[in-house]
Amino acid sequence: MSKICVIGTGYVGLVTGACFADLGNTVTCLDVDETRIERLKQGIMPIYEPGLEQIVLQNVRHGRLHFTTSYPEALKDAEFAFIAVGTPSGVDGEADLQYVRQAAEAIADIVDHPIIVVNKSTVPVGTGDWVAEVINRRRAGKPLEFSVVSNPEFLREGSAINDFMMPDRVVLGSLHRQAAEKVAQLYQSLRCPIMITDLRTAEMIKYASNAFLATRISFINEIANICEELGADVREVARGMGLDKRIGPAFLDAGLGWGGSCFPKDVKALAHMAVLHGTHPQLLQAVMEINRNQRRRVVVKLRKALGTLDQKVIGVLGLSFKPNTDDIREAPALEVIHLLENEGALVKAYDPQAMENARSVLPRVQLVETPYQVAEGADALVLATEWNEFKQLDFEQIYRSMRQPVIMDARNLWNPDQLRAMGFTYFGIGRGN
Ligand code: NAD
Ligand code: UGA
Repeated sequence: MSKICVIGTGYVGLVTGACFADLGNTVTCLDVDETRIERLKQGIMPIYEPGLEQIVLQNVRHGRLHFTTSYPEALKDAEFAFIAVGTPSGVDGEADLQYVRQAAEAIADIVDHPIIVVNKSTVPVGTGDWVAEVINRRRAGKPLEFSVVSNPEFLREGSAINDFMMPDRVVLGSLHRQAAEKVAQLYQSLRCPIMITDLRTAEMIKYASNAFLATRISFINEIANICEELGADVREVARGMGLDKRIGPAFLDAGLGWGGSCFPKDVKALAHMAVLHGTHPQLLQAVMEINRNQRRRVVVKLRKALGTLDQKVIGVLGLSFKPNTDDIREAPALEVIHLLENEGALVKAYDPQAMENARSVLPRVQLVETPYQVAEGADALVLATEWNEFKQLDFEQIYRSMRQPVIMDARNLWNPDQLRAMGFTYFGIGRGN
């Protein structure tokens, strides 16, 4: 069993730390955010993620998982330092590496024993080499024995623990094969394919994977828009396509487009890398444009249905960028709300988990406690995030309480025939309307 330090306790760092502890390692999770660490020490999770609290508390109880804000404490005797800090979009979409730099410098300043630095943050190709340079420069005259390994993370929010514990693959990249093999041992018990490659290739696999998934979604959204004009049903089209083993069924749900803390920034960063190095990322540009338009189309359809959006009351169900998370970063719902508000609409909203996070960024939105309060007096109801609790609503009650029975099912969650039979004017995405 190994001694591991994880730098950054966000979605990736906290899940990585808790899961490695659960696999029997001794893990110290470090963050510069004192409140976050203080709360974690009290057993309070900084994020809503199914199964996380249980695995954290259990491993803290067994003495395998610790939290600190002290770099010396976290790095003491650590064989591995995982960097899992944020890499947000910076100028022109370029990934901002300031937090990665801070983590690398702290390692250089503090560590005095051989260590493997593992980069789990999503970083531009070449960052692994740069991290080694940052450390070496900082240590000038007092060399440190270390290797850098890229170990991109593929977990999804909302199913992060399962994704970590049952990955399709683990990707490791390094100039030092032995270091990558040592990291591979940490994952051995997961019994999944472990691919070892070079540093830059591993970094590119992460961007290419996210960009490909985003491309699939933009593709099906474009097909959905064509279906709407031609009277076909995109859900059936996706099902028919997905039965082809070469295509597969995943990531073909048409809707409001992709959001979240990663796809938008990663597609942008990949396109930026491409331009910087003289290639023209036409497909990536189209993928982003389709995604932007997807939100606008919903607002245009609503305006057409209601005549105008000015002073209309629009109820929005779901604020998080996808179900089972309270994360609202780049949530399509938020963008739709801003577009609606720009046209003078008055927005009411409800989300099962994300209301606290949404409060400060949606000052004009009336946040209410139930889906039924959202519908009350509304001129239209927009389903923006397909939470399970929205699947089976009492539509009789909703019909009675709305000012106009207009439904914009922007995630294709409900049955159009049933809702139309009840008297609703129903719009889905790519369902022939
Ligand atoms: P996050 O914003 O949730 O958390 C980052 C944490 O790092 C914060 O708590 C912050 O306080 C801390 N931090 C910043 N600078 C620090 C420093 N110098 N030392 C210690 N802690 C520091 O980020 P996240 O969503 O976990 O993403 C982390 C990285 O993983 C990003 O590169 C992201 O692209 C990638 N990633 C994220 C996901 C996901 O689902 N969120 C999945 C795969 C990969
Ligand atoms: C995504 C990837 O799936 C992970 O593999 C990756 O590790 C992660 O990004 C990352 O790098 O951060 P995540 O953003 O948590 O994970 O969620 P997804 O399930 O991929 O959904 C992303 C967005 O696409 C959501 O807004 C979702 O609503 C949308 N989506 C997804 C669709 O519109 N249609 C689909 O068929 C699937």
